[in-house]
Amino acid sequence: MNEFEINIKARHYSSISELDETERQLLEAANEATKTSYAPYSKFNVGSAVLLANGEIITGSNQENSAYPSGLCGERVAVFYANAKYPNVAIKAVAISSAVDSKINDSTVYPCGACRQVLVESESRQSTKIKLIMGSAKSVIVVDSVSLMLPFTFDLDEMMKP
Ligand code: THU
Repeated sequence: MNEFEINIKARHYSSISELDETERQLLEAANEATKTSYAPYSKFNVGSAVLLANGEIITGSNQENSAYPSGLCGERVAVFYANAKYPNVAIKAVAISSAVDSKINDSTVYPCGACRQVLVESESRQSTKIKLIMGSAKSVIVVDSVSLMLPFTFDLDEMMKP
């Protein structure tokens, strides 16, 4: 038996103003996107913004449905749309944010497991890392690669190797 540890490096910013200009703009776009959320069931509004290598910012938000599992998280709406619109343009960074009653939440929002899986596969489609910016009204957590959020990723290519 060999026990091992997996460590991840993350940065904590005690205020949005500590981010660099590009990161701050992306998080503000995610904050703005919470307003487009359709979440009549959970009342939890998620906004996401994707920065592409061509400079374009694509935003998305969670879209719920009365048949609950038919809805989709904000990050996946944004990332799938970015990949559908520009299949060959790399994603540089993704920001996420959440709001309740039109107010950005004080606690940081972290992507769910399914969104992490999608983010990691988007990163592996390209040769560069995707930075993840996880926001709140108060502070921000940033990791330089979405893969850090999902150790032991399900990777079909890896498992199909002879
Ligand atoms: N949600 C997201 O949009 N992103 C996540 O990473 C986790 C959860 C949404 C799904 C649902 O509409 C609401 O938040 C409450 O779970």
